Amino acid sequence: TKVGIVFGGKSAEHEVSLQSAKNIADAIDKDKYDVVLIGIDKEGKWQLNDKADYLLNAQDPKHIELKPSEQGIAVVPGLKEKQLVSPSQGAVLDQVDVIFSILHGTLGEDGSMQGMLRIANLPYVGPNVLSSAVCMDKDIAKRLLKEAGIRVANGFTFKKRQLASIRYEEVAAALGSTVFIKPANQGSSVGVSKAKNEAEFYKGLEEAFRYDTKVLVEEAIVGREIEVAVLGNEEPMASLPGEILPQTEFYSYESKYIDESGAELAIPAPLSEDVTEQARKLAVDVFQTLDVEGLARVDFFLTEDGEFVVNEVNTLPGFTKISMYPKLWDITGISYPDLIDRLIQLAME
Ligand code: DAL
Ligand code: MG
Repeated sequence: TKVGIVFGGKSAEHEVSLQSAKNIADAIDKDKYDVVLIGIDKEGKWQLNDKADYLLNAQDPKHIELKPSEQGIAVVPGLKEKQLVSPSQGAVLDQVDVIFSILHGTLGEDGSMQGMLRIANLPYVGPNVLSSAVCMDKDIAKRLLKEAGIRVANGFTFKKRQLASIRYEEVAAALGSTVFIKPANQGSSVGVSKAKNEAEFYKGLEEAFRYDTKVLVEEAIVGREIEVAVLGNEEPMASLPGEILPQTEFYSYESKYIDESGAELAIPAPLSEDVTEQARKLAVDVFQTLDVEGLARVDFFLTEDGEFVVNEVNTLPGFTKISMYPKLWDITGISYPDLIDRLIQLAME
């Protein structure tokens, strides 16, 4: 079986994706699968094999140079926008049987790539177009979860055109003076701020609106950060939960990928058996409510009263050295190479 590993891409999470792809390419069973590396550079150009390998290894993961755009697409300064799909990409896709795309964020995790692969009639790892798009959009995902009776953070969703009429006093009266501000469609906490007063609030809005035309303002939930990995199609399984122990104000992009002392992970999370089971069951409920297939990492807060609040669902979660998803499966009894194998088999079911 020929597996195309697709990575990089034009999102703000380009560098994270390179790190994820490196680990997947290392772990994949090379006796069973022929790997075709497909790297998408920051211009959106597709590079195959040797050139892709160069892209994979030439980048310094700590160096991120972003020019955000409201479409969530990172723009490389000085380079002309190029089409994502050019005729040569058809030829690339002809060479593989299945795609393991580990493009995080815009154009990769949001249904765009999934739509293109569907048209190309190629199976791929992860959920379908609709579910990918829904999980990428935190506003839509929260509405559907809420409708299913699953608790999410209280908050407001604002469009850019409303910017002039957003009032901190009103937001703070409803949500408390400390709030989180997030672009609706982003990953890895890019564009996310914690605001504790009016000045920080307006600054945070401005920052979030650099990445999206839709922004969420949410109450700050006091609680532990618990994550569960889910794997499967019709009968998904949940891993043991893990816990993030941020050493900074919150689990930011910096603390994830730049300052390695920024956060510690407790794997498995020190939770009672009951609470562990509750987390696993809820993660599967969330997965099924949003029609996810293949995989997702479901991120929760566990409040002081012992209630789980869903923070978000990542349908192409990080596979980097520090990433929870593969680590959670490892302690649950599925090794990294086995995990990759299962994901590819689930894609081809
Ligand atoms: N969006 C990043 C890659 C994650 O969820 O792990
Ligand atoms: Mg995310």
